[in-house]
Amino acid sequence: MLIFASMDFKNDLLLRAARGENIERYPVWLMRQAGRILPEYRAVRNSLSGFKELVETPALAAEVTIQPVDHLGVDAAIIFSDILVIPEAMGLEYQLIEKVGPRFEKTIKTEADLIKHAETDFNVEDRLGYVKEAIEITTKELNGRVPLIGFAGAPWTIFCYMIDGGGSKTFSESRKMIYQNPALAHELLGRITEVTIRYLKMQIKAGANLVQVFDSWAGILGNSQYKEFGLKYINKIADAINEVPVTIFAKGAYQAMPSLAQSNCNTLGMDWNMEVSEIRAMVGEDKTLQGNLDPCALYSTHSQIEQLTNNMLDSFKSKRHIVNLGHGVYPDIDPEKVKTFIKTVKNYEIKH
Ligand code: CP3
Repeated sequence: MLIFASMDFKNDLLLRAARGENIERYPVWLMRQAGRILPEYRAVRNSLSGFKELVETPALAAEVTIQPVDHLGVDAAIIFSDILVIPEAMGLEYQLIEKVGPRFEKTIKTEADLIKHAETDFNVEDRLGYVKEAIEITTKELNGRVPLIGFAGAPWTIFCYMIDGGGSKTFSESRKMIYQNPALAHELLGRITEVTIRYLKMQIKAGANLVQVFDSWAGILGNSQYKEFGLKYINKIADAINEVPVTIFAKGAYQAMPSLAQSNCNTLGMDWNMEVSEIRAMVGEDKTLQGNLDPCALYSTHSQIEQLTNNMLDSFKSKRHIVNLGHGVYPDIDPEKVKTFIKTVKNYEIKH
């Protein structure tokens, strides 16, 4: 196994920014850069039976992971996989339905469901060995060009899919359980957390240089509920992962940012509704912030994109920033617009 020390990278801006070290310019990458916008991705995807086959075929997953590094010039790769491999490994299989999204045929509603569909007593390498292999191949092929990001869903977001069975505007089944059976909710969240920690450690051992935890549905809980059912479990993950820098992206969790700032992570993600100066005031100088251009800004003209990106960069008052969008890049964005965004960041001179 090959583990890169920071000095072995040709470009380790991402890791230095995450650790609060000196950087020559801000690093930039895009959430969901690997599977949404590149024609090169679609070519690979269309040659297969579907998304899951791609996720489960390590050599191809590695190939599409590296595509954005080659074609867009981003400063990091993120392993091509999905947050939903965790519920699947625990015994809850999902399908990805074209134009609808992920669907779980079974959902968790009772204590009895936990036995069959929320298992913890298994070896993650046995069930998710394809992710390990994809990371090993990617690390080898990247050969230190840029760091590789591993990831998982936050327990609350995974819980939402396991209870509601797919995407939802309200996730009211999940929120109902919090009121009707909080003990069951905590039991399931604890199980997801335990498996997620083992899974992230497997990714790190395989070569992931930084890990990001996606809490896409953080914003649907009130602040005190988020502390109890979201943050508590994110903190367990952040406390358990000390090998590499950790990023927490809690979308919509504006009010929780001061509490998130107390967690044992290096970087906090900001969605585009968050005002950079306000978030900086809330979290202080000891965390790196990641984000946060509105993904829809990439629908504007090239010169507007340049201007909007420069405005965002001007709002940064220190080097503790990683540039990204405020959520994943949308599928119909022109890759040329993404390149303008990236070029603008790369040309920007840090004044602090
Ligand atoms: O950044 C990357 O491109 C790496 C791979 C990645 C995928 N999903 C691939 C994917 C990552 C980091 C994710 C995370 C993910 N998956 C999240 C958290 C981030 C976020 O966007 O909020 C969530 C909530 C999911 C769940 C999920 N998986 C949904 C809602 C969908 C449906 C459609 C979509 O694109 O969002 C998926 C499928 C999925 N995951 C696709 C890809 C490339 C689409 C598959 C295809 O049609 O080819």
